[in-house]
Amino acid sequence: MKIPNNPFIGTKYIGFKEKINALKVLNAKSLFRYHGPKLLFMTNKLESKLKEYLNVKYVLACSNGASALKLACIAYGIGPGDEVLMSPFTFIASASSVLACGAIPKFVDIDESMNIDPTKIEQAITKKTKAIMCIHMQGQCCDMLPILDVAKKHNLIIIEDTAQAFASEYNNKKSGTLGDIGAFSLQAGKTITCGEGGFLATNDEVAFQKAKDFHDNGGHRVGCDYPTWMNGETSYGENYKLTELQSGVALAQLSKIEKIVKHQDKIFNYFKNYLDKTKFYKLRAKSDYNKNINVSFCLVFENGKICTEFLTYMQKYQIPFNKYCTKLINSYDVFKKKQGPNKSNYPFNLTDIEYKEGDCSKAMDLINRTAWLNLSAEFKHKHVKFIISKMEEFRAGKR
Ligand SMILES: Cc1ncc(COP(=O)(O)O)c(C=O)c1O
Repeated sequence: MKIPNNPFIGTKYIGFKEKINALKVLNAKSLFRYHGPKLLFMTNKLESKLKEYLNVKYVLACSNGASALKLACIAYGIGPGDEVLMSPFTFIASASSVLACGAIPKFVDIDESMNIDPTKIEQAITKKTKAIMCIHMQGQCCDMLPILDVAKKHNLIIIEDTAQAFASEYNNKKSGTLGDIGAFSLQAGKTITCGEGGFLATNDEVAFQKAKDFHDNGGHRVGCDYPTWMNGETSYGENYKLTELQSGVALAQLSKIEKIVKHQDKIFNYFKNYLDKTKFYKLRAKSDYNKNINVSFCLVFENGKICTEFLTYMQKYQIPFNKYCTKLINSYDVFKKKQGPNKSNYPFNLTDIEYKEGDCSKAMDLINRTAWLNLSAEFKHKHVKFIISKMEEFRAGKR
């Protein structure tokens, strides 16, 4: 049986609404969010709907998840030499957004939840630590309560990297609204998408305004007025604005979010019923406060050998269980060789931290003994039944 292997969940839902919104923007010939002959305010509408959905005061749409993370750092003045704690089990953008501000990622190990281990954070804090980046991997929030406690005790900012977890919840709050500021992605592989895009969510007006000005070339803009560039009241900034076309598509996608969440839950629950019964398979750890968005699930095996055997058995039937990655980002050249983008090697010239392959040994161990399955939105009951039948064969000793 051919098993769908499509992690592009939001993309699967592109339909009439997305096309109509894109067409409306094109017909209005108003593609720029602040100006046009017949501006439709798609980006404003997207921000308003996101505020409502997330129950936050401020949302800023921007060009992608990586820029949202950089803007989050900028919003809180995280800059040259400051240390930001994060897990190395992530996509490189979590760390490069910090480097882009001149700040230094410091890696903290994960636990069997596959997210940062809250018990390892405190020992990593130094005088230079300014923030903890909570990266909610694959639809599951970090265990935020103990992290919030540590942050409060040490006066640290919490930035949430919610690129992979839009619509997940923790303690009845949406991910990205649990700390000081949340950064989201609308890239093609995410829960909702407009190809490339992102946004920030916060309740902090000052942080929001700082990010907003920075994302608009440092000018201060009220409504759709021309920014302050002409009178020189302009700070350093860059351009991270989202276009009306992207916003129109994202707005249509957002209107489908409940449907997407429900559908992914339904697929996951087919598996969960089986997994709960067998006890042979262990899912990544999760606190009762978590309500995941089921973009994938992760099985944690006792050791790498049995995990490899499992993957080999699944691959025999073209069931797309995979290792999430084979390397953690702290072993990428950028860290191993401390490679800054310019001659001075900035910002690595500002830190004594050495990044070694063996750091974060638990994460290394876990990536070798975990198997991930993307819960393609195309999964039908027959696919799930087939996958479970093969998992059951493996459990019963067939290799
Ligand atoms: C954990 C994580 N953080 C940040 C990003 C960056 O998002 P974007 O691709 O929208 O820049 C991604 C993208 O895949 C991600 O997975």
